[in-house]
Amino acid sequence: MPYKVTLIPGDGIGPEVADATVRAVDATGVAIEWERVELTSKIIEAAGTPVPQHVLDSLDRTRLGLKGPVTTPVAGGFSSVNVALRKKLDLFANVRPVHTLPGLKTRFDDLKIDMILFRENTEDVYSGLEHEVVKDVVESLKIITRTASIKIAEYAFDYAQRMGRKKVVAVHKANIMKLSDGLFLRCCREVAERYPWISYKELIVDNASMQLVMRPETFDVLILPNLYGDILSDLAAGLVGGLGIVPGANMGRDHAVFEAVHGSAPDIAGKGLANPTALMMSAGMMLTHLGEHDAAKRLHDAIGKVYLDGKPLTGDVGGNANTTQFTDAVIAAMK
Ligand code: NAI
Repeated sequence: MPYKVTLIPGDGIGPEVADATVRAVDATGVAIEWERVELTSKIIEAAGTPVPQHVLDSLDRTRLGLKGPVTTPVAGGFSSVNVALRKKLDLFANVRPVHTLPGLKTRFDDLKIDMILFRENTEDVYSGLEHEVVKDVVESLKIITRTASIKIAEYAFDYAQRMGRKKVVAVHKANIMKLSDGLFLRCCREVAERYPWISYKELIVDNASMQLVMRPETFDVLILPNLYGDILSDLAAGLVGGLGIVPGANMGRDHAVFEAVHGSAPDIAGKGLANPTALMMSAGMMLTHLGEHDAAKRLHDAIGKVYLDGKPLTGDVGGNANTTQFTDAVIAAMK
């Protein structure tokens, strides 16, 4: 029986990296029936809701998604489909592994960077609760709950325990947001106490940003509320070669949706220049989630071989290949 997976190519570079990823996953030999669901900013505008019913119906059938990015209008327009999807399906943990790719030249390629970010995915200032109190005065609510904070902390510590990770850092701004980030931090501490053999520290988000740039190799597991997790994910991606190569997963109790950290990259969309590595590696995480460990390893090893060879790579990581040439090389490396 093939696995059923909802494929949401998205828009911008989404369809390009999604097609490349489907080719690479199919080349692993794992039988997947892709249920392709279109979701673009145009479709959302027409439907009048960020997550149209056909997308939810498909994810309810498959419980598993591979998703490309979807453009969200800035300072107005419809609210983010990503935020809505994560809330609707309670995809509470956004898991983002960031590590050095051997062979890839970066500013930090003499260091071994290997960290994993666990970003709370359903609340914080992403609750979309904003209103104009009076003209020119706007209020935006930051929601932090014990339930969601405990869930992300438990998820991160459980992962650290299973994967033999040694150090967890909780990132916060509880010196200023004493109640909201204070609650987040108390929940992290409470969970940390159950794992006395794992080192637990706390860093204020501004200091964490500096430490990440100065000493990225010292980070292991990070737990972050939604906003800091979003920002520091991109910072962390910048340490290892950029958004083109960092994967991610949105995990819930009943559903999982795998997607790269990057957005729809309108500046390069439709030109065949996009790097599909991040979505391919997200698909690798999906294969692992399915228990297809050999296939996941074959896919990761093939990607790793192309980077070690140093060609053909896409422009964002210093090469001059297009999406298809890179994908062909990954598939060839699997054979
Ligand atoms: P972005 O991640 O789309 O692009 C930032 C920079 O990284 C650009 O220069 C882009 O060309 C480059 N880049 C990103 N992915 C790349 C790849 N795979 N290969 C090569 N270069 C790549 O971030 P930006 O420009 O801030 O956002 C664009 C749109 O994407 C916005 O509407 C935003 O809301 C949306 N977005 C959607 C996400 C999602 O659907 N999960 C996540 C993040 C942003």
